[in-house]
Amino acid sequence: MSQPVIKGLHHITLCASGAQDDLDFLTQVLGLRLIKQTVLFDGRYAHYHLYYANANADIGSVLTTFPYRRIAGRPGAGQISSTAFAVPKGSLSFWSDHLSRHAVEHSEPQERFGQSFIRLRHPSGLLMEVIEDADDARAGWTTGEIGADVAARGFHGPVLSVRETAEQERFFVEALGFRKTGTDGAYHRFEVGTGGAAKTLVLHHEPDRATGSWGFGAGTGHHLALDIGTDEALAEQKNLYEELGYTDCSEIKDRNYFHSIYVRSPGGILTECAASVPEGFARDEPIDQLGMQLLLPPWFEHRREEIVAMLEPIVVPEHNRPATMAAAAGPGGAAQARKETEASAASGVTPSRRTSATFIGGDVPPQT
Ligand SMILES: [Fe+2]
Repeated sequence: MSQPVIKGLHHITLCASGAQDDLDFLTQVLGLRLIKQTVLFDGRYAHYHLYYANANADIGSVLTTFPYRRIAGRPGAGQISSTAFAVPKGSLSFWSDHLSRHAVEHSEPQERFGQSFIRLRHPSGLLMEVIEDADDARAGWTTGEIGADVAARGFHGPVLSVRETAEQERFFVEALGFRKTGTDGAYHRFEVGTGGAAKTLVLHHEPDRATGSWGFGAGTGHHLALDIGTDEALAEQKNLYEELGYTDCSEIKDRNYFHSIYVRSPGGILTECAASVPEGFARDEPIDQLGMQLLLPPWFEHRREEIVAMLEPIVVPEHNRPATMAAAAGPGGAAQARKETEASAASGVTPSRRTSATFIGGDVPPQT
């Protein structure tokens, strides 16, 4: 039996509340790039699946959300309790001012494993962090308010709340190939490969915290996904899980932009392993127009009208549009932006502005 070949984080998936609130917060406050609008592939009712990332849509920077107003989640142990984004060293004073300007609830700077971070609250109640990391060279997405010198680079990693640590540690080490690299009070750090940003998981030992909900529900983390590279490695990981006795591993699922298996880890956190597919997020739209319009996998396309009717209309923020990038480039940019908008309209690609869609009530299921 081969050893696990996890490379680091692939994506993290959280349940938000309102779709537009989520979109506005993650793109305008955190400054992430919307890279995909699609839907949750499971269940009877349509829910958005929105993907956000850094400038290059790097694996390990991809935050995905299910805006899930229909059901409220219960935060607690056995869940992702916070999601940390790496930001440049010395940028926390910017972030503190920026969050205050947007009236976002946030903490004072604090430290974990010698790194300074600020914890902040997403509109749905989800906790997130910006944590300084001097070694992260990935390219952050920029906005009118967030420059390249302070932009989030992608994940540092999730903080995972568990009532007990022993079996969760064993799972990380034996089944996934992580190594324990430190403890800091109630926090236990695990790293893979070179460690650091996007290769770190932090367990928060909270023995007295009530267990949180496991299903989809607004305001709770849903799962973390680890990058395993290839389909061959994914199949081998499924064999490894079964050999070790983690026999509740799912079948291999086609997630359109990657292939996945899921297993419920001993501490309660749903853990996915994901293998890349050719072209990845650019397989169904140009790389410079990622996230502009709602895309469905081929097997849902014939139900598009019914699906759209169940989704909250959303407007893609200006700075996520290619034309706006031109406008931000300086004098003459606005005219260039208009030209590009016209060009993209002519090519059939127009950003979502579905304010007048048939609207049944957000993600409230239709009455039958
Ligand atoms: Fe996932």
